[in-house]
Amino acid sequence: MAAILARAGATAAASGSLPKSTGRRRRNAVIVAAATGTGQAMPQEGALERPAWSGETPLSRLVGALIAFKPLYSLMKLASREVIIRTAEKWNIPWREMTKKVLESDVYEVFERIRDPKLVYPDYYLSPFHAYDEGNLSWLAAAEAEPATMSIAKRAIPEATSIEEASQIVRGSWLNTIEEHHQKYSGNCEINDILDIGCSVGVSTRYLAEKFPSAQAVGLDLSPYFLAVAAQKEEKLSRQNPIRWVHANGEATGLPSDSFDLVSLAYVCHECPARAITVLVKEAFRVLRPGGTIALTDNSPKSKVLQVSLTTIFQPNLLHQRE
Ligand SMILES: C[S@@+](CC[C@H](N)C(=O)[O-])C[C@H]1O[C@@H](n2cnc3c(N)ncnc32)[C@H](O)[C@@H]1O
Repeated sequence: MAAILARAGATAAASGSLPKSTGRRRRNAVIVAAATGTGQAMPQEGALERPAWSGETPLSRLVGALIAFKPLYSLMKLASREVIIRTAEKWNIPWREMTKKVLESDVYEVFERIRDPKLVYPDYYLSPFHAYDEGNLSWLAAAEAEPATMSIAKRAIPEATSIEEASQIVRGSWLNTIEEHHQKYSGNCEINDILDIGCSVGVSTRYLAEKFPSAQAVGLDLSPYFLAVAAQKEEKLSRQNPIRWVHANGEATGLPSDSFDLVSLAYVCHECPARAITVLVKEAFRVLRPGGTIALTDNSPKSKVLQVSLTTIFQPNLLHQRE
């Protein structure tokens, strides 16, 4: 069992084909764990560190107090939405147009096919989130997810000359790190089956499917709204191995043990409490084949909650469960 943690932006900049990073705003990281059945977990980077936006500073306490006052929070929400949308459009991301296209499409029929009406949502998932009152369980959140993802890439790589370039840097670095790590630690096992836990509207799943075209990819998410957007887009593509979409909780996927060579959790953990992170990673290990790779990527890899959860997860007693 081995684990690495690599800075996504830095890996891309080192490839030589992409603009040099200033190193200041890059917070993306990839933690890749391979269940090789030998050795110990070896995180190479990531000492405990509090992210700049959290903690007990007077500023964060003031922000917390303002947010707790509901009428003011509603106004702040509206104003910040407007700023986010205008900024995205200034970067040539057609936010309102993309959102309208989804909301006026036949996505509602796809939703009926994809949704598991019996699925029970964990408590944390039922709270307002990202300024959407219904959190990820809403059409607006689903319709805006892709332009929001594009904005995040541009924000992470401000020196990129286009959104496509910014996305390629962020995702290319992540995919290369996974590939390199898998080649090094898998004992030559091929990637035939991929599970993307927390796939949202399928952006990460499509990148994985394109990187490993001979593999069968599965995108799994708790939001049937996000999955409907993902599946609707996939239906229009003619892929050799079409992606399969599963509406389930990543904490208990219901998928068979030892059935995936690569399990990805991309930008999921920062949305989850520590308890859920631990269970998500345990479930990822359960469905992983021996020799397989778990790729854990997040925007704030040094956040306390992620570091503490991972330290717990990568204890040898847990690793032995997969050996
Ligand atoms: C920021 S999005 C992930 C984005 C996507 N992986 C990508 O890289 O483009 C986080 C996703 O995690 C999903 N999620 C959160 N908790 C989950 C859980 N317990 N099981 C499955 N999905 C979960 C959310 O619904 C959301 O779609």
